[in-house]
Amino acid sequence: MEVVITEDVDAVAGRAADIVVALLRSRPGAVLGVATGSTPLPTYLELGRRVAAGEVSFERCRAFLLDEYIGLPPDHPECYANVVRRRFADVVGLPPHHVAGPDVWAPDLSAACAAYEDAIVSAGGIDLQLLGIGADGHIGFNEPGSSLASLTRPTTLTSVTRGANAHRFGSIDDVPRHAVTQGVATIGRARHVLLLATGAHKSSIVAAAVEGPITAMVPASALQLHPHVTVVVDEAAASRLSLADYYREIEAAGPAWRPA
Ligand code: GLP
Repeated sequence: MEVVITEDVDAVAGRAADIVVALLRSRPGAVLGVATGSTPLPTYLELGRRVAAGEVSFERCRAFLLDEYIGLPPDHPECYANVVRRRFADVVGLPPHHVAGPDVWAPDLSAACAAYEDAIVSAGGIDLQLLGIGADGHIGFNEPGSSLASLTRPTTLTSVTRGANAHRFGSIDDVPRHAVTQGVATIGRARHVLLLATGAHKSSIVAAAVEGPITAMVPASALQLHPHVTVVVDEAAASRLSLADYYREIEAAGPAWRPA
């Protein structure tokens, strides 16, 4: 696991954008996994700036949503397909039909989840999965207790997660109770996982995920088993990492063989 500690939110966005741009330059038809939440938004804006500057194009890229609420009408502004279109695809010029999400409106949800797994495999798998981290350690909507071998499936949101998302809906009562999420193992199949976290409120859970035991109680800790994970955090989110100085030394020494 490569842990990159940067100064602030803008530096996190810059570093994350560097990684996405490098991938798309070497592989213009790359497959991205895209996350919602506030954390990746500055990265998406930075990518939009780089597209405008002619540094990169998303025209041939394809993207898969990490998760989607169950029970919202398809035109609801908080439906993740709409959030990703508004906050990412439109910003970077990714054609809307290149973005896929699980069909949470299908009458047979298990079949829809299996079809989503198949679609990811048929696209050649995800090259780069962007992730935020929930205050309870969730990735996607894999809440504490999720099987670390889980694939795409319906799940029940914790009250912590629903509370964290209440401001987007007006009240916690309006936040859906269920969602479909890529599983922990689905995320683990991505060739490169890029986890972003900013702010002091994420510092404890970042430390638990990166340096704590691998446990279903902190689903993000399963990333410790992945061969290619980059964690980009700002100083505030890094403040409880016990090996922070070591991560800074690795970054400063920067040999060419360091994992990218
Ligand atoms: C939601 C999403 C997660 C995201 C999390 C954190 O629960 N399903 O993918 O990581 O929010 O959100 P934020 O980045 O706003 O803290």
